[in-house]
Amino acid sequence: MPEPTSPPAPHAPSQSVSFDISTGTGVLRTPGSAYALRIGADGSPRHVYWGAPLSDAEIAALPSAKSPADSSFEADAVADELAVETGARFGPAGLRVRFADGTRGAQWRFEGFDLDPDGPGDTLRVRLVDRVYPLAADLHYRVWPDTDVIERWVTLRHTGGPGADAGTGSIVVERCDSAAWTLPARPDYRLSHLVGGWSSEFQLRRDRVPVAETTLTSRRGATSHHANPWLALDDGTATETAGQVWSAALAWSGSWRITVERDPVGRLSFTGGAGHEGVGVTLQPGETWQTPVFAGLYSGAGFGGASRAWHAYVRAHVLPHPEEDRPVVYNSWEATGFDVTEADQKKLAGLAARAGAELFVLDDGWFGARRDDTAGLGDWAPFRGAFPNGLRPLAAEVRRLGMRFGLWVEPEMVNVDSDLYRAHPDWVIHSPTREPTELRNQLMLNLGRPDTAAWVLRTLDALVRENSVDFLKWDMNRVVTEAGWPGHPDPDRLWTEHVRSVYRIMDRLRADHPALRIEGCAGGGGRVDLGIMARTDQCWTSDNTDPVDRIGIQAGFGQVYPAAAMAAWATDSPNGSTFRETPLRFRFHVAMAGALGLGGDLAEWSEEELDQAAAFVAEYKEIRPLVQRGIAWRLRSADGVSGVHYAAPDDSEHVVLVWRPTMAFGHEPAPVVLPGLRAGSRYVDLFWGAEYSGESLTTRGLPLGLPAGDYASRVIRLRRV
Ligand code: GLA
Repeated sequence: MPEPTSPPAPHAPSQSVSFDISTGTGVLRTPGSAYALRIGADGSPRHVYWGAPLSDAEIAALPSAKSPADSSFEADAVADELAVETGARFGPAGLRVRFADGTRGAQWRFEGFDLDPDGPGDTLRVRLVDRVYPLAADLHYRVWPDTDVIERWVTLRHTGGPGADAGTGSIVVERCDSAAWTLPARPDYRLSHLVGGWSSEFQLRRDRVPVAETTLTSRRGATSHHANPWLALDDGTATETAGQVWSAALAWSGSWRITVERDPVGRLSFTGGAGHEGVGVTLQPGETWQTPVFAGLYSGAGFGGASRAWHAYVRAHVLPHPEEDRPVVYNSWEATGFDVTEADQKKLAGLAARAGAELFVLDDGWFGARRDDTAGLGDWAPFRGAFPNGLRPLAAEVRRLGMRFGLWVEPEMVNVDSDLYRAHPDWVIHSPTREPTELRNQLMLNLGRPDTAAWVLRTLDALVRENSVDFLKWDMNRVVTEAGWPGHPDPDRLWTEHVRSVYRIMDRLRADHPALRIEGCAGGGGRVDLGIMARTDQCWTSDNTDPVDRIGIQAGFGQVYPAAAMAAWATDSPNGSTFRETPLRFRFHVAMAGALGLGGDLAEWSEEELDQAAAFVAEYKEIRPLVQRGIAWRLRSADGVSGVHYAAPDDSEHVVLVWRPTMAFGHEPAPVVLPGLRAGSRYVDLFWGAEYSGESLTTRGLPLGLPAGDYASRVIRLRRV
């Protein structure tokens, strides 16, 4: 262990983070896990341990992962806390740098550590400097007393002064991951991840990990519908309720990449961070570069345990207002499309209020020349043909009906056929010599430009202020192509600066309008991640509102993100995407598993349907605290029944939502085991009055009493007696 070149910071009293300078070992402790790293002989922090809690003595006795310099023929999964390109390392490097004289790769000297420099939470910072070049890297770790999630990120610093020569000039950072994570050796590994596309987000895949490098990525400049920056790993034996699971998620809403490397001798590491291959930044002397957080957790309680840990973490440390009930939203998109008028929207508002909605959202089509998706995007003034006196009369009516007023915006975008584009064609992301690709007939503003970002902030601020907007549905319906930034000395910064600018604008709007709430949306669930969730209150899960498809989409979303953030509407039948006809009750029961909203053309609903809708909404409001702040247990039985159980943390109240899209063979479904109940308690079904012991519900299961036929569903409420 090399000597630190600066005196270590005084040992802080924190129990959860420690660093033993005599062995160079850092230890992080969470309520249900421990994590350890050690400075290797080459000065690089190497992985030691991540798993169930171990004593200090046990951790001290563990070897570090092998030094990469040991053998040029030894296969070696990353096992560095952040892999560099020097030494006998041949796996995916988390840090790829090129210095001005052409030299590649950092070679570290351990400078020291600090405990709790980055509050809040308990933090450890490991300080590294290159032995020759003016590059410093800090590896940051943060733990909290109430979660097993460990947050990690990296700060790079160009420590050279201005006017430096070629050896110390600018530094090209081709890649800087937030962290690498290493798992204990196992004979086999399995990867769980989320894949999909527009209208089919969050499909869970669970496959064996090949002895190879497996990359999960988005190169779109946005999180993407196609892969979500989350993964879970196990040895192939974990179940929903038991077994060891290691999981990680990136807090970033742009391009990203996570590479899992499994080597032939039973080791597995993964490294991840912002950006995709071939896109980096050039650091100038004095400049600092900070990565987003890559959060990871260990659970000994199976996939369900990992999800519950994520949900609790997101509620406690990510979402801005976790304590608030998410309102029942009515959104006009599926009812009126682009064809919005003040009269129509007022009528829908009246019906929505009657059904119990608490917030009315006017979706696309209210502004500029936006009669379809070919024009008007960027011109955020009400279309006078539809709203002759602006939006205030509608907003006033919505309030008179007892609801809050929300508005759809897509502030990062512009149609070529718009006044904004005609005035500022240079504001879009483009390469002047390349044909621009229009996706959904639109181009993307470069919010990395200070003038463009300032305009967006000004425009949104005025919209919110002038119309007393309570809620913005912030949409993003295209991704980055022809990624140029003409005139910028380091044009690839676009990929990060656009995202950071969106974050800054959201943060600023929220600070200036404390009552404003934001729903994140990107053509459905194309931008759902821990980064956007830190500044939005909920996310639009998918444009697909078919309840059968939604069961899978919502189950995937719920692997990592909590129900409070999962916007789910009951809409029309037949469904606008799938043309499937389903009963109103089934549509509501599926949507009630998240932040319930209404999205259909209520003007076409019968009186009876509106009354039923009002009853479902009223029932939802009763179970809402359980759904939005309870502890979630995914349920699945034979017979095609799936569902979710939300438990009050004190075990007093429970709600079980179960769905069976198709009835096979006319079989009665078997009772569903509820592992989240307590063996010593007794529970009463509030509808049937039946009483059960916890033992019976956790072993034999709950009889579902589902009606016969397809699209059967029930909301079962249990109270502890
Ligand atoms: C996206 C959103 C939809 C709707 C439309 C409006 O597709 O996901 O909910 O707002 O845009 O154009």
